[in-house]
Amino acid sequence: MAEPLRIALAGLGTVGTGVIRLIETNQAMIAARAGRPIEIVAVTARERGRDRGVDLSPYAWVDDMQAMAERDDVDVVVELVGGSDGPALTLARAALDAGKGFVTANKAMVAHHGMELAELAAIKKAPLAFEAAVAGGIPVVKGLREGTAANALNRIYGILNGTCNYVLSEMEQTGADFDEMLCAAQDKGYAEADPAFDIEGVDAAHKLAILAAIGFGTRIDFEAVRTEGITQVRASDIAQADALGYVVRLVGIATLENGDGECRLLQRVRPCLVPFRHPLAAVTGPTNAVVAEGDFSGRLLFQGAGAGDKPTASAVVADLIEIARGQSGAPFSVPVSSLQSCAEADPGDRVGRDYIRFTVADRPGVLAEITAAMRDAGVSIESLIQRGRAAEGGDVQVAMVTHEGPERCVSEALALLEGSESLTAAPLVMPILKD
Ligand SMILES: NC(=O)c1ccc[n+]([C@@H]2O[C@H](COP(=O)([O-])OP(=O)(O)OC[C@H]3O[C@@H](n4cnc5c(N)ncnc54)[C@H](OP(=O)(O)O)[C@@H]3O)[C@@H](O)[C@H]2O)c1
Repeated sequence: MAEPLRIALAGLGTVGTGVIRLIETNQAMIAARAGRPIEIVAVTARERGRDRGVDLSPYAWVDDMQAMAERDDVDVVVELVGGSDGPALTLARAALDAGKGFVTANKAMVAHHGMELAELAAIKKAPLAFEAAVAGGIPVVKGLREGTAANALNRIYGILNGTCNYVLSEMEQTGADFDEMLCAAQDKGYAEADPAFDIEGVDAAHKLAILAAIGFGTRIDFEAVRTEGITQVRASDIAQADALGYVVRLVGIATLENGDGECRLLQRVRPCLVPFRHPLAAVTGPTNAVVAEGDFSGRLLFQGAGAGDKPTASAVVADLIEIARGQSGAPFSVPVSSLQSCAEADPGDRVGRDYIRFTVADRPGVLAEITAAMRDAGVSIESLIQRGRAAEGGDVQVAMVTHEGPERCVSEALALLEGSESLTAAPLVMPILKD
């Protein structure tokens, strides 16, 4: 058999130890499929003495993580440390600069610095791979780079954060409110102690920006992702959506428009109403799912575990097998120099239906004020529901679904209502996902 592919592993936490276990467990099968063994040569983490439940004695311990990039006995550096900048980025630059392969699960770093790293990889002719950075164990990067390579894609969307999906689908099952279900997610280990990146949609935005670049052949533009999280979604919104035939999911949606020799890209992460019959409505718990629509392939659904030691390790080692085979292509589908730069599409141009929830003072004239604003902005209301009566001086919730129309009209209506004393909290707008 050919010479082994020798790797250095930086980071021995959830994913790093998963990679060690996977390489040890499936060693012979991996070697057969890769055409040569994959051998861990060196490892590092912050604390050398910590018991990680895996035997590290066969591997050289490296105190200075950055030294991994300089070792002659290493072909590929695997970074499983995390953080968009700092030591992970320094290591990525050093490894690629030294002409070594670089594999990472670090979505934050790829979303922020993926273009720079892909440019360096191209100059140094070094493989760069990050299957595990998007949707954990789901081979969606490979699916888009290779499986849909012959298709024009103009919409990629999906459930990209397991924590949010767990919280929303548990709110749906139990009728409990957001805070309670977030605590449940933390107890089950689905949410970090600081869950801000998850619940505010930032983690999903990282993944969406990467998917858009791969699927559309456009330069990553993370800063342009319009991001809303799920903290404003109430149990009552979920009950209301259910009565109307929808579930609520945090969905990342990227759409590409080409015309007049220019491309326009719209990337958004926001809670959406998903019709019961849509495949994403059946995606519950911490599962992730990505939908890509190709002009010849039609709708494709990639679904599976978006996180966890085993699924994420599976994606990392798949990248290593590809490198061992000598098959790694352009990390973003086309050479980085050919990726298109797109302007941002105007979100006001989106034509669709929306769910809008108002929290209002329970007094006469409030509904008339809201419907007048809608009329003046050209928003046509399909249904309007006011549930129950508040106790003296309390708030009530008014939910409406609009007919299909330009999003800018809804924004105009809300602008007309801004500052109104009838509204006691900011309205929540959730688009209704088209079939
Ligand atoms: N967990 C998942 O399911 C999942 C899924 C997809 C992608 N990812 C991505 O995979 C990466 C790793 O995630 P994880 O969950 O495995 O994280 P983790 O459990 O927190 O592990 C991080 C590891 O990095 C080490 N480390 C941190 N700073 C270091 C430094 N300055 N020098 C050397 N080592 C350092 C830590 O060392 P100590 O152990 O000594 O503290 C730890 O072993 C992240 O980019 C994450 O976004 C994770």
